[in-house]
Amino acid sequence: MSVIERMLRRDSASGPNGLVLAPMRKRDLKDGVLETESHAYPTPWSPRVFQSEIEQVGSGSRYYLTARRRSDGGRGRPTGPSIGHGGLWFTADEAHVTNIAVHPDARRTGVARALMIALADEAIRRECVAWTLEVRVSSTGAQGLYHEFGFVPAGVRKRYYDNVEDAIVMWCHDIQEGDYARRLDHLRGTR
Ligand SMILES: CC(C)(COP(=O)(O)OP(=O)(O)OC[C@H]1O[C@@H](n2cnc3c(N)ncnc32)[C@H](O)[C@@H]1OP(=O)(O)O)[C@@H](O)C(=O)NCCC(=O)NCCS
Repeated sequence: MSVIERMLRRDSASGPNGLVLAPMRKRDLKDGVLETESHAYPTPWSPRVFQSEIEQVGSGSRYYLTARRRSDGGRGRPTGPSIGHGGLWFTADEAHVTNIAVHPDARRTGVARALMIALADEAIRRECVAWTLEVRVSSTGAQGLYHEFGFVPAGVRKRYYDNVEDAIVMWCHDIQEGDYARRLDHLRGTR
């Protein structure tokens, strides 16, 4: 195994469908992340916002992943641009999902589920007891995804997005418990 292969193995986690999840680096922005982001949100994050978030990974307050496909039917090295990304912001013993986006060409193939599983694993590893997020009222697909992970609506932030659209605040508690580990194991086995 080459040095590069060893580094890739150390830095990445295998997902389903030949996916490789790896820590987001600044160079990933022009290699798929900004492209995916531009399709995902009416007000996408700018390169500057991503750079600032990535810079905070070192202090332990953030965690960002990209998803790429493996070549060679799932066994080869990761190839092509990032097709999805997601991230967490850690506060006290809670994790906040800051972003989760998948390129339109790659949707409904389990990429977001794989990213969410990896984010959950990291939140649990960091001893978070709960995780939370905001989602657009109109993003019913994303709400379906979050429901799978045990998120339930806990409130509404009025005109949260661009002073126009409401956000549903969702929470998922007790993520250190055995029930949650079983939920994640079930999701790991999906697809
Ligand atoms: C929401 C988003 C991240 C989902 O990504 P994805 O990779 O297509 O999701 P997955 O394939 O992992 O879906 C997992 C499950 O979530 C639910 N789901 C995801 N997208 C859905 C949709 N459009 N409609 C209904 N359910 C959906 C389903 O239960 C799905 O399981 P299934 O395909 O077996 O039925 C993607 O559509 C996206 O980037 N949207 C724009 C950005 C966005 O809204 N992000 C969330 C902001 S809070």
